[in-house]
Amino acid sequence: MSERMQWEQEQPRVLLVDDELGTIEMIGAMLDAQGFDVTLCCDVGEATRLISDESFAAVVSDVVFDGNDRGGEVLAASRSLSPDTVRILMTGYPVIEGAVSAIKHGAIDYLQKPVDPLILAATIRRALHERRVHPEQLVFQDLVNILSDMVAQTIERVDPYTAGHGERTRTYCRQIAQRFGLDVRTIERLELAAIAHDYGKIYLDDLNFLTKKGPLTAAEYKAVQRHPALGAQKLGTHPHLKDACQYVAEHHERWDGTGYPLRLKGKDISEAGRILCVVEVFDSISTRRSYKNPWDLDKCIDFFESQSGRAFEPEVLDIFLGLLHEYGHEWLAAPARDLAKAQARREESTLLR
Ligand SMILES: [Fe+2]
Repeated sequence: MSERMQWEQEQPRVLLVDDELGTIEMIGAMLDAQGFDVTLCCDVGEATRLISDESFAAVVSDVVFDGNDRGGEVLAASRSLSPDTVRILMTGYPVIEGAVSAIKHGAIDYLQKPVDPLILAATIRRALHERRVHPEQLVFQDLVNILSDMVAQTIERVDPYTAGHGERTRTYCRQIAQRFGLDVRTIERLELAAIAHDYGKIYLDDLNFLTKKGPLTAAEYKAVQRHPALGAQKLGTHPHLKDACQYVAEHHERWDGTGYPLRLKGKDISEAGRILCVVEVFDSISTRRSYKNPWDLDKCIDFFESQSGRAFEPEVLDIFLGLLHEYGHEWLAAPARDLAKAQARREESTLLR
């Protein structure tokens, strides 16, 4: 069976490889319940034979087998025999080393042990979805996505701690906006704004304080407050970008009028802008920055519940809190993984120079 047919199967085949049978039995049972057809394997040689003889949509392997770093052999066999298979490494290494090791081994992603099966299932499904877009099927929206990713990486260059911030903000905004009932056109513009909301940061006169350890001085805080308007201005004056630029300009305004730069209040802030405000704050407080540790889920929930009708609009906040209860653990794990992957990409490009 061709790999493309594998991707299109309703039950994608997944090979789980780890010398701890109990670990993959538990993960396998959860993946099975999520609709995957799972094969378990505890031996590197046997895994290599299976990859050679059979077709898998995804191969998920541990790094260490009986004390030896042999996970790379499994992924190397997959990369050689089935280049388009989704490869994921499960690693007990600290986050950065794990990401670098995984990418060197040809993995598209890595997960730190103990692996959450639900996050693994979501990671595989997301990768399989991306695989389904073949070059001849690329539509304009896919190219917009690629360009959006480049804008996000430009912002990450001046503030590395924001790795993945734009894309996560976009995803969460879309989920809220759909439940809020915004029309498709507005949601598309909100997504563009979410990707580019911090674009103005790259035009600040002094970029050093973006990565400063410790609180900003009053002058630095005043300077950073220019970034919403700067971003809206620099993104262009084209009429088709007018709405997206408005949301960018509003992303630090607050429902009770305590935000910046214009201290807009209540419904003077657009509906899309109100959504972006909530999500931007969530992703910032749940992400490690140079000056702070990320908040845990309980602290996030307590904070947002306390801000209903204050910093944030109650209706938007209710939808957001519902999603946070549902996806909170996955959302809180995302920033560290995105940061590690961005650092691994930088290390890899440095090695290639
Ligand atoms: Fe911002």
